[in-house]
Amino acid sequence: MIEESYDTKTFVFGWNEEVRPGQFVMVWVPGLDEIPMSVSGINARTKSITVKAIGEATRKIHELGVGDRIRIRGPYGNGFDLSRGEMLVVGGGVGTAAVIPAIVQSGADAIIAARTKDDVIMDDLARRYSKDLRIATDDGSMGFHGNAVQLMKEMAAEKRYDCVLACGPEVMLYFTYKACQDLGIGCQLSMERYMKCGAGICGCCVMDDMRVCKDGPVFDERQIPLLTEFWKSKRDPCGRIVSLR
Ligand SMILES: Cc1cc2nc3c(=O)[nH]c(=O)nc-3n(C[C@H](O)[C@H](O)[C@H](O)COP(=O)(O)OP(=O)(O)OC[C@H]3O[C@@H](n4cnc5c(N)ncnc54)[C@H](O)[C@@H]3O)c2cc1C
Ligand code: FES
Repeated sequence: MIEESYDTKTFVFGWNEEVRPGQFVMVWVPGLDEIPMSVSGINARTKSITVKAIGEATRKIHELGVGDRIRIRGPYGNGFDLSRGEMLVVGGGVGTAAVIPAIVQSGADAIIAARTKDDVIMDDLARRYSKDLRIATDDGSMGFHGNAVQLMKEMAAEKRYDCVLACGPEVMLYFTYKACQDLGIGCQLSMERYMKCGAGICGCCVMDDMRVCKDGPVFDERQIPLLTEFWKSKRDPCGRIVSLR
């Protein structure tokens, strides 16, 4: 177990399944819930998940120690396409966990963004692999003073990118998409929706006619204009539509 910050921990487990950057697993927390988690570390025999404690199931995972067992199924989802030329990888908050394997496998330029320096996670690991890693914090306590999208525009003014890969809060993804449109570059955004089966069966994660767990969670610049619910609404655990703004 690695303590990434005051509320986020990484758990490494033995698993020799083949996993692509951007894919996720369903983690069963006995007696409580089964929840989706991005795979934040990919090695031949081990994988990892990086968990931010926000509710019952994630707090329970935080109590796990060496030798404890959890049940994982997957991997699920499409993952990122790392063959899109010169890439800039952007992680916001705990969304950073989902993009770390893309940074490790591509060595691409990267941004890790967070509210304050205490919320920045996995920057040491990203720095080892990324050609140019920059940090952005909303309060300026570490790195660039501002948000991920402002820093992304600065980096795109210095260098021509073909595609931006991002995972983070939906508002960050929305403005990343807008900026990519303005700059005329491609993007791949990893989306989050409430998930039960994780495997394309139950339909609870739908955005328009896409299942985020199976058709996504990564959507590119050709698919995103078809997602009319993007940064507008999502479904709650009962399937009711809830406004995001
Ligand atoms: C594809 C995907 C990848 C994710 N990767 C990570 C990750 O790498 N690290 C991480 O810390 N978190 C990740 N999450 C979010 C994580 O699943 C939720 O934080 C977790 O389910 C919260 O459960 P809880 O019982 O602790 O909190 P709760 O109090 O039950 O829920 C808090 C909030 O978490 C979200 N949530 C709860 N259950 C689910 C569910 N079954 N599916 C989707 N969202 C849910 C809802 O927005 C809810 O309001 C990911 C979500 C998705 C969809
Ligand atoms: S979570 Fe069941 S279809 Fe996506």
